[in-house]
Amino acid sequence: MAVDNIFTIAETCLHHTDISEKLKLTHHARELAMKNQLSFNETGSVQAITETKFPDKPLLLAPRDMPKRRINSSSGKAAFFHALAHIEFVAIYLAWDILYRFRGLPVEFYQDWLQVADEEAQHFSLIRNHLLEMGCDYGDLPAHSGLWEHAEDTAVGVLARLAIVPRCMEARGLDVTPQMIEKFKKQGDMQSVNLLTRVLEDEVGHVKIGSFWFKTLCQQQGFEHQQKYRELIEKFYNGKPKGPFNRELRIIAGFSNAEIDWLEER
Ligand SMILES: [Fe+2]
Ligand SMILES: [Fe+2]
Repeated sequence: MAVDNIFTIAETCLHHTDISEKLKLTHHARELAMKNQLSFNETGSVQAITETKFPDKPLLLAPRDMPKRRINSSSGKAAFFHALAHIEFVAIYLAWDILYRFRGLPVEFYQDWLQVADEEAQHFSLIRNHLLEMGCDYGDLPAHSGLWEHAEDTAVGVLARLAIVPRCMEARGLDVTPQMIEKFKKQGDMQSVNLLTRVLEDEVGHVKIGSFWFKTLCQQQGFEHQQKYRELIEKFYNGKPKGPFNRELRIIAGFSNAEIDWLEER
């Protein structure tokens, strides 16, 4: 019997656009891995990141062309959750891509990012259902085109990818989500509060996985990880990410106080 292979499944998820297939296959891969029925043997050549395929909808717009939204109207709330659904959708690709693209790493690396891919797929489904209850589906509104650019820029190396994706983009979620939870709490929208709380909890885990692998691989390659982090942010982020930073959650997610101090320095 042919055994399913993680890299074959990754390639299918990255190169096909059908959303429900992607969600099903992602969950299937995680289940196989948990039953020890997934092969992690390297197979196939790695395709260029420009081969990645996204669905026709949503229409992607540059951040400056995105309509402004406020969550205190129902259309604003739908726009907020649509933007979040898009972030989660791209996050599924980001998790698949990091494990597909960077080979020769310990099997635990691949298991960790498969777990992340499956959790991102769950986040996407939960948020999409929440949107549907508001009368809006994923793809009905335009979405931000910038998220995947960081993946393309950092396809050159796993340390750059880890610094920019989990330890910069996903870490940003730890800073802003608690404030959003407070806003929905004030509105008495407990469904949104519970949803965002669940997502935030998992996201702390994703950044923590990112920090763990960043430090482990820096050490293996003989780099001081804090110094390397600063270098990679300066090179790939185009200046420092904006604060305010949630120190408490970032520390849980594997940042050092010195790294956060450096981020805060202007
Ligand atoms: Fe997520
Ligand atoms: Fe995530």
